[in-house]
Amino acid sequence: MKLYHSPASPFVRKVMVLLHEAGAADRVTLIPASGHPLDPGTMPVDRNPLGKIPALEREDGPTLYDSRVITRYLDETLQAGLYPAAPRLWDTLVIEATADGIAEAAVLMRYEMHVRPEPARSPAWAEAQWQKIARALTALEQRWMSHLSGPLDMGKVAVGAALGYLDFRQAERDWRAGHPGLAAWYAAFAARPAMQATAPKA
Ligand code: BEZ
Repeated sequence: MKLYHSPASPFVRKVMVLLHEAGAADRVTLIPASGHPLDPGTMPVDRNPLGKIPALEREDGPTLYDSRVITRYLDETLQAGLYPAAPRLWDTLVIEATADGIAEAAVLMRYEMHVRPEPARSPAWAEAQWQKIARALTALEQRWMSHLSGPLDMGKVAVGAALGYLDFRQAERDWRAGHPGLAAWYAAFAARPAMQATAPKA
């Protein structure tokens, strides 16, 4: 399998953490790819017409995207067990969606303030993205800490990837302030070998 990959992407990181946790990092060849809303860059649009990473080229079928499709596929193929049976599955999926929303808003902030041409940038729009992140962090802190202290699943992996990306690109926002439970959880989670092996890089 080939994974279109950027070491900065929190969505690629979810896939990479799953692979490391499943002991299967050697099952994929990493293909460096880049792109953003103004330019699909080096992500082949004949593989993903949206020009986004990650995308997973399979040996036996069409290329898969986006990260949640890829992680479901790899979880089943590798029997990784990171999507539990229902009813716990619904909690796992809503936590994964919440974390992906944090990552998506943070990536949009990055694009707005660093990719969009300077005269067109909107600090108010970027701030609205941060408010979305702040609400999601509060939801994790208030509602989901007991789930996060349970067995490893893709909800936890997605939260780890999202918080790692906040440290990487929005460190000055200090997401830990007001979220002590999440901060303590992340300190332990970030020490996992799979997280250490996939730390974001520019
Ligand atoms: C970044 O540089 O922050 C980034 C790169 C690829 C995908 C998402 C974010």
